[in-house]
Amino acid sequence: MATIQPTPLELPGLTGKTVVVTGAARGQGFAEALVLLASGAQVIATDLAEECPPALTEAASTLSGELHYAALDVTNEAEWSALAALLQKEFTEVHGLVNNAGIPFRGRIGEIARADWDRVIAINLTGAMLGIQAISPLMRAGASIVNIGSSAGLNAHHTVAYTASKWALRGLTHVTATEFGPRGIRTNIVHPGYIETEMMAAAPAIMTDAQLALTPLERTGQPEEVAAVVAFLLSDSAAYVNGAEIPVDGGFTSSAGVKYMSDIIKASQQTK
Ligand SMILES: NC(=O)c1ccc[n+]([C@@H]2O[C@H](COP(=O)([O-])OP(=O)(O)OC[C@H]3O[C@@H](n4cnc5c(N)ncnc54)[C@H](O)[C@@H]3O)[C@@H](O)[C@H]2O)c1
Repeated sequence: MATIQPTPLELPGLTGKTVVVTGAARGQGFAEALVLLASGAQVIATDLAEECPPALTEAASTLSGELHYAALDVTNEAEWSALAALLQKEFTEVHGLVNNAGIPFRGRIGEIARADWDRVIAINLTGAMLGIQAISPLMRAGASIVNIGSSAGLNAHHTVAYTASKWALRGLTHVTATEFGPRGIRTNIVHPGYIETEMMAAAPAIMTDAQLALTPLERTGQPEEVAAVVAFLLSDSAAYVNGAEIPVDGGFTSSAGVKYMSDIIKASQQTK
């Protein structure tokens, strides 16, 4: 499937605004950084690597916003504090935070090692909490936090640590939306379905087939299709959207497996 190019969305309230995106070296974080740059934002792209990935620098060079890069392991509180101090010095205030960094882990309940559980929770859940605690003091009314959940956070996907981390991220989202709402800071969560990134490149073909059989749109998604929703939530167009959960999954979680049943019934009726 052809990659969709990021297009300026002409969303109000993003031009010149400072937005931090975690896990921006590739995949959805990369696409989120680009769509925000195309909308005129100053993007602080962060990831584990010391240097900004050349592909990001190159892709950003033709876009209207300004790209900055900072190495950041989301599980490291000291690195979050250092980033917050830098942002306060250089930009004074921060408009947006996208807690995108995340890792999969396909271990099941009954067999997952404690260390693997801890690592997944540390990155997918604690990393977002640390980010919110570090960056939110730099936010003013109108600011917006977007957490990247997963369709696994809406169902009982067998990847127990990953699933539990994304369910818990929903809780963090709702608490933050409630606590920061009075300050005019909005917090929402986006739940991608099967999105074609390197994270999914290692998924077994049988899993892809099963996912497609359960997805009403009958295709996988592209990172840009998630990024567009993230940019909307960061913009003033979403000024009254707070505490929302938005699946970007082709109808997968909405259908809740019913597509599979419907297709089987339809096929059996056609053979009669
Ligand atoms: N791809 C999918 O199908 C899918 C589906 C649902 C949810 N998600 C979620 O979307 C988000 C992005 O996923 P993706 O598909 O782009 O994955 P990806 O693996 O392509 O990219 C993830 C990025 O996060 C970075 N990262 C990992 N650990 C980090 C850490 N400790 N600190 C900072 N950065 C770290 C990686 O270096 C990488 O650049 C994740 O939270 C993931 O759980 C993805």
